[in-house]
Amino acid sequence: MPQAPPPRPDTDTRGRIVAHRGASRDAPENTLTAIRLAARLGASWLEFDVSLLGDATPVLHHDETLERCTDATGPLERLGAADLAGIDAGRWFGAQYAGEPLATLAQALDLIEALDLSANLEMKTHGAPPERVARAVAEALAGRPWTRTRILVSSFRPGALEALRRLMPDQPLAVLYRDPPAGWPEVLASLGACSLHLRHQFLSREILARARAHGFHVRVFTVNDPPRIEPFRAAGLAGVFTDHPPLFLDDPEWAAWAREQADRPSR
Ligand code: G3P
Ligand code: MG
Repeated sequence: MPQAPPPRPDTDTRGRIVAHRGASRDAPENTLTAIRLAARLGASWLEFDVSLLGDATPVLHHDETLERCTDATGPLERLGAADLAGIDAGRWFGAQYAGEPLATLAQALDLIEALDLSANLEMKTHGAPPERVARAVAEALAGRPWTRTRILVSSFRPGALEALRRLMPDQPLAVLYRDPPAGWPEVLASLGACSLHLRHQFLSREILARARAHGFHVRVFTVNDPPRIEPFRAAGLAGVFTDHPPLFLDDPEWAAWAREQADRPSR
């Protein structure tokens, strides 16, 4: 008997415009304020990065070190949850954001639930074992059943996605590439991932056609110049990451596209 394909859990299809690192053009990236602003600007989806502190507390942070996006310095790994109270993640962006916390994943999930948003949680492993990052993320998601349909977990590291899939068979997953290798559909299929996320510069009609043939969604990052991807708008693109959602939502044609239910290709 032929083997059934592995299940491929998927998220809701409410939005196609994804606020990258929250609304990160006008608020400090990966903060609670950036999440609130994304919602206020009309985005129903956002993306944020998750990194681990040394005690395995997952926090919203893109880099391996603190200096670019906080008032502290050194590797994130040197901190534990007890150190978070002393860290400012907003002042670097503007005096009016002073006092912004370096948010934990738990705080972000509470806010996303309260605002009725959906999100792409990107696991950053930096130097940590991928299993450790996946376990911390799985623990944060486990007690929140709504995250099975409203949180899409992605990573550039297949090992982190493999580990998460072992821990959470029903969690929607996306595989991240800058430039996808030829075998990307097989990688997604083996992980039970529903989506391919790639740099917009590497998007092609061939990728969209292969995605359609296999039933995968395709989203591109990070687009702050909508005309660059306009040729793909009607060609089956599922979503766009942008630092400033109004670039798309204030344009009638993009806004109409954003409102459409993402077409779910049959498998
Ligand atoms: O998840 C899409 C995008 O955020 C990946 O790149 O470096 O902005 O995390 P980066
Ligand atoms: Mg990211």
